[in-house]
Parts: sequence; C-alpha cells; structure tokens
Amino acid sequence: MNNDDTLKQRIDALRLVLKEHNYRYYTLDAPVISDAEYDRLLRQLEALETELGEPVPSDSPTRSVGSAPSQTFATREHGEPLLSLANAFDPEEIEAFVRRIREGTGEAKPDFIIEPKIDGLAVNLRYESGHLTIAATRGDGKVGEDVTDNIRTIADIPWHLNCVDTAPPEVLEVRGEVYMSKAAFTELNRRQDAEGLPAFANPRNAAAGSLRQLDAKVTARRGLNFFAYGVGLGGRELASSQSALLARLHDFGFAVQETSMASDVDGLLARYQTLQEKRIDMPYEIDGVVYKLDNFALQHRMGAVARSPRWAIAYKFPAEEVITTVKQIIWQVGRTGVITPVAEMQPVAVGGVIVSRATLHNIDELQRKQVYAGARVIVRRAGDVIPEIVRAVDIDEKAQRPSPPQNCPVCGASVFRVEGEVAIRCSGGLSCPAQLKERLSHFVSRGAMDIEGMGDKLITKLVDEGLLTDIADLYEFDYESLHDWPGMGEKKIANLQKAIEQSYQRPLARFLHALGIRHVGTATAAGLASHFGSLDALMQASAEELVNIPDVGPEVAASICSFFAEPHNRDVIARLLAAGVQPSAPSSGPGNHPLAGKTVVLTGSFKSIQRRTAQEQLRALGARPTGSVSKNTDLVIAGEKAGSKLAKARELGIEVANEQQLLAWLNPDYP
Ligand code: IVH
Repeated sequence: MNNDDTLKQRIDALRLVLKEHNYRYYTLDAPVISDAEYDRLLRQLEALETELGEPVPSDSPTRSVGSAPSQTFATREHGEPLLSLANAFDPEEIEAFVRRIREGTGEAKPDFIIEPKIDGLAVNLRYESGHLTIAATRGDGKVGEDVTDNIRTIADIPWHLNCVDTAPPEVLEVRGEVYMSKAAFTELNRRQDAEGLPAFANPRNAAAGSLRQLDAKVTARRGLNFFAYGVGLGGRELASSQSALLARLHDFGFAVQETSMASDVDGLLARYQTLQEKRIDMPYEIDGVVYKLDNFALQHRMGAVARSPRWAIAYKFPAEEVITTVKQIIWQVGRTGVITPVAEMQPVAVGGVIVSRATLHNIDELQRKQVYAGARVIVRRAGDVIPEIVRAVDIDEKAQRPSPPQNCPVCGASVFRVEGEVAIRCSGGLSCPAQLKERLSHFVSRGAMDIEGMGDKLITKLVDEGLLTDIADLYEFDYESLHDWPGMGEKKIANLQKAIEQSYQRPLARFLHALGIRHVGTATAAGLASHFGSLDALMQASAEELVNIPDVGPEVAASICSFFAEPHNRDVIARLLAAGVQPSAPSSGPGNHPLAGKTVVLTGSFKSIQRRTAQEQLRALGARPTGSVSKNTDLVIAGEKAGSKLAKARELGIEVANEQQLLAWLNPDYP
C-alpha cells in the first residue's frame, strides 16, 4: 500500500466519524463530543484533504453543513442555500482574514461589522408579500425541516413584516438564530428535573430540541428567542451593507443584536476581548464573535468557497468544553442531608480556571451520563461558572459502575431514598456533622424552640470550635465558659442561659417542628401533637397509624418513621429529655385553641410581628391562614392600613380582630 492509499483510508474514516457527529448534533440534538473536539477533527480532515491534493467531494464534512433532515418533519428547500462560517482560533488567523479581504477588495481599510456569535440554531424564514409562509431549519444547507408552526410561537419573529411606507418584498428569506436565554434554560431544566426527565446539556441543545417538537404547544412553553442576522432570496435590494440591513430587519419587526464596527485587526481583536468579558453577564449564550465585511458590493467581490463566504469569519472563544478522566466518585453530604455524587477528575483548564471536581447532582444523572472511575468525560463550565460533566465518551461497558452508599459517608447513619424522588438522604439528621449548623439554626429559630441570642454567627463559631456536635449539646453546654469570647459579655451569657431555660417547656408541636423531620412543617407538627399528645406515643407509631392523620401521606409517614428509627436520632432525643427538655402536651394546643380549624385572613401591617411569622404560628395552632377574603373566611385580623380585604370582610359581615387580639391568641399561655 502506498502513502496515498493510507492517507485516503484515514480521510474516509475521518469523514465517517464526522458524519456520525453531524447526525448526532444536528438531527438528534444529542452530541457526544465537545464542539472543540469536533472542530479539531474537522481541521484534521481539512489538513489531510489538502495533503492528498485531490478534488474534495461535495458531501465531505469539510464541504457540507449540518446533516440531512430527519424523516419526522416535512422537508423544505431553501430559496438560496444557507452557508456556514469559517472559524478562526487565534489572532494570526484574523490577521490573515483581514489581509485576504484587503487584497481581494483592494480596500486598505474596509469596514467590518462585529456581531456576537449566538449559540443556537440557524433557521430560514420565508415571507411572501410580507407574510410568514415557511420556516425551516438549516438541515443540510439546501433542504431543511419545516418547523413553521413552532416558529410562530416565538415572539421575536413577526408573522407579518412591518412595512410602513413601502410595499413588502414579493419573496424575502430572513435568516437568523433561534436560541434559548440562560434564564429560560435554567427554568426548563428545573421543570425537566421536577418531572423526572433528563436535563438538557446546554441552551443550544435545548433550543434545538424545543424547536423540533411535533406539538407546537410544547415549543411555546419553552420560551425560545430569535435574532435576525441575514437574508437569502429576495434580500439583495433591501440594503447596501450589513449594518443597514440589520436596521431594515429591525424596522420589519425583528430582534437584532447590538453590533460594533472596526476597520483593522486591533479593532477587531479589542471587541473580541470586550465581548469575552461581557459574555458571562449576557442573558443568552454566545460562543464567539462574527466579523463580516460590511459593504455588500465588497462582499460580492470576495465571493464564497464551498460551505462558507470569504467575506466573513467566526472567531470562537476558547473551548469551554474539554475532556478529562474521572479519578473517583465520592459522595458528599449537603446541609439538608442530601447525598450527592461528585466526580474527582484529573485537573483540567476550562474557560480559564482549573477544574478537578464536578457534582453530578444525583444518582440518576450519574447513571445517565455514564460517569464512573476511569471514564473519559467532557467537562464544561455551564453559564461560565459551575463546572459540569456533559457526558462520558468512549464508554467502557465493562467498567464497574459506582453504586450509591448504604451509609452516610460523614456520620455513618443509614441512607434512604424517598419514593418518587431522585435524591438519597442521610437519616442521621440530628447528629450528622454535615447538617449540623443548618439543623441547629432551625432548632433555635422562632417558630421552633425560640432560643433568642443563639444566632447563626454564634452557632457557626461554636460548631467550628467543636463545642457543639449535636443538638443535645445545646442543653449540656457550659455557657459560662464563653466568658472570654470577644463580644460575649456577662449580660449576653445570662440572657442566653435564660433563653435556654425558657425553651425547656415548649409545646410538643413546636418541639416536633424543631426536630426538622423532613416533610414535617408547622402544620403537620401541630396535627401530630394533637393526635398523639406525647412524644413517646408518636415515637411508637407505625406508618399505618400515621397515614390516618389528616395531612400525613405515605411519604410523610415514611419520613417520620425513618427519622425515629435512626439510632443516632433516638440517642439525641433521649439526651434532650435527660437534660430537662419537656415538650408540653398540647392542652391548649391545636384542637383546643379557639382559632383551631378557623379560616383566617391577615391584612395590613403589624407593629410587633411579621405577617409571615404570624401566619406560621397560626398554622401551628391549627388555624388555616389564607390570602383572600371570601364567604368561607371565619376571621379577618386587620393591622394598620388594612384596605380592600377589611372592607370586604365588613361587607360580608365577617368577624374582624386587631393586632392586640392576634398577639393574645399567639401567646403560648393563651387563654
Ligand atoms: S452569519 C453566511 N451571524 O453560526 C453567513 N451566523 O458557525 C452565515 N451564527 O450558521 C451566518 N451567530 O447558525 C451569522 N451573528 C451571526 C451568527 C451566526 C450565530 C451561527 C449560524 C451559522 C453558524 C456558523
């Protein structure tokens, strides 16, 4: 075999590989390699094709754009092909570009327009006599998929061109980029997660997936946007430069981007720098800048080569996606007890920072992305800040997959997974150091044990010094020893001791709420307290018994059971009781309180209590605070400047109370 034969074989192989990636990217919206990796392969192919020196077939990935349209959508031929852009990766290539333009046009200082390069997908919009008739994706550049119905859901795209003084062109193709804003992307992934659906890797894939929906209603909910940046058929006559064209498109009713002008290499590069810095604060993702010769006559003089015009070039920002190897998967315990898998990786530079760890959020994501120790993974910085693993590449099916831990890696308590939820959690709530600060600050908070003076700062310090290791320590700690702490005067210490003493006999409902059992908020705690009457009875209760209580479903029952079954928690509770904490039986608690079962509306402002706090406390007493006054309202409590709700209560003849009465009701010793 001679050298040319090997070269040809390598070229064929590389073309096949790139075609597969085109198909995955454009048709399936699910790329398996990073953009940077793709560009690298494409350049390699280009180099090999040049080395071989034979004519390059028109279907080579170096000559064609995108991938054949899928079979699901009707296909549409574009009036004029959609071209792509050549890429530059360093300043020298920009210099060469400017040189080519100078030579090709004979202009010493031609004007360039600089546009941000939007990370979305190109579409072609056909207007006939000013009305939108067809919208198609780029497809292979000549033929795309008909997505007209879906495109009509995008608010930035006019259905009719706004032509005030002139007749609309008979036919006009408008080109631009459909994209998803960072905010819409975050919201979409939040919803995907809530519905147990896989998250989209980036806004571009999300935009592509959202546009290529069979049901336009789904597209409409995704909040897509559009920027126009060019024209095809029928566009020649509209303007004589790109800057004038953008102004025209804007007048027609399209959204267009902010642009700037430069006429030399320094100017072009300076704008690149500025946009790279602005990038993170922009509401949508951009992946580079596009330089275009502004003047259309000069553009024409430059012409085009196979897949891209010679009058424009894209200068991409440095790769935000890189490939590295996972060293191991560790499990991290968050403040709320959620245990998340974290991949420790071979350190790698992404977008200017060294990344060596990335969270996988939950076990499902870990499995979906096929991440395991030894895997090669694509890492990107989502929204430019948090490193994220996009997926594994070159997946080794035989490699051992990580399995979730049976015990909390921090405290050793057993873990549990709530049915229907992806997260696994540590059940050692009261004693797990990872959750300690959060637990303590909840325990001492107002609606809970109400230990005034034990603020977050003090908690943090006590935990960091190793003086508080669980909740029971609050009652075993020698507060006198804080004497020489800065800011801890005698008075403060005395007040703190008093607050601790006062908390010994909080109502059972408050104590249960203070324990921070998952799913047990103030209302459920109140219900449990009034049903069981004592902590002991509740701790003995079975899940079957618990689900008979109003407000307690199987999920809440399971959470309560596993909380009290956990030996660490039982131990902490035993120590709390031994130290003198005596949750008081709900003699005047929910059920007996005059407001129990009443629908109450708070309106206006109160001097000595925040409305939200009052609502929470009312709920703990068994009342039902609601937001609007209706004939079902039992009582309206009106503060200062109460307006329409108070008027409505009077109109409906509903009982009205004032702040003083409210405070009396909320007093634990009431009546
Ligand atoms: S002009 C003949 N302008 O990037 C010129 N394209 O990598 C065709 N893109 O196919 C495109 N922002 O999908 C142009 N301001 C911009 C752009 C832009 C994003 C996309 C477009 C294009 C691809 C090329």
